[in-house]
Amino acid sequence: MTEKNCQIRSMTNADLEQVLAWRNEPDIRRYMLTQHEISLTEHRQWYERNSQDPTRRLLIVEEDGMALGFVHFSGVAPGGIADWGFYAAPGAAKGSGHKLGVTVLNFAFGTLGLHKVCGQALDFNEASIRFHRKLGFQQEGVLRQQHKGADGYHDLICFGLLREEWNSRTEVNNG
Ligand SMILES: CC(C)(COP(=O)(O)OP(=O)(O)OC[C@H]1O[C@@H](n2cnc3c(N)ncnc32)[C@H](O)[C@@H]1OP(=O)(O)O)[C@@H](O)C(=O)NCCC(=O)NCCS
Repeated sequence: MTEKNCQIRSMTNADLEQVLAWRNEPDIRRYMLTQHEISLTEHRQWYERNSQDPTRRLLIVEEDGMALGFVHFSGVAPGGIADWGFYAAPGAAKGSGHKLGVTVLNFAFGTLGLHKVCGQALDFNEASIRFHRKLGFQQEGVLRQQHKGADGYHDLICFGLLREEWNSRTEVNNG
């Protein structure tokens, strides 16, 4: 599966305000594990810490120069088991999330040489749950009432995708 017009690049200082605006959108923030509105100072500190860390990647995915969204990985190492998190650019067309996912997983298992990618979604995040399943992730567990939100406790659904599973998807090489 390839997304021919999609490119992936590292987030830079120039993306700080754009990424913060996405992260603070109510329809993104409500699905995150920390749901307060993030200040520019806090965001800059997060960026400085994470962009210097060789086990992390902060990435922007674009299609024909238009941003599709943001993805980050932690636990990056050849043969490593990494966690990812992501959000589509607000207002991006339907299907943007899937394109972003395909582009990033090709990069993760190809360029980064990861062995496994893991994701977690809150139980009410239907879009993320469908997104993971459609990309071939297996549900590996449920952390019961692991998250305390304003409306009570929520389960965290854990997903995992192995490199061999991604590479065996028939679409991978037929894009
Ligand atoms: C998760 C996210 C990246 C998916 O991107 P997207 O552009 O909405 O997804 P796509 O249009 O490619 O659709 C992917 C699947 O999710 C489904 N989906 C999308 N929005 C949905 C919604 N609101 N409710 C239920 N399913 C939804 C689509 O129908 C599709 O499944 P299908 O092909 O079986 O119908 C995006 O919704 C997002 O950024 N959400 C907010 C941040 C977030 O939740 N990040 C993940 C934290 S774990």
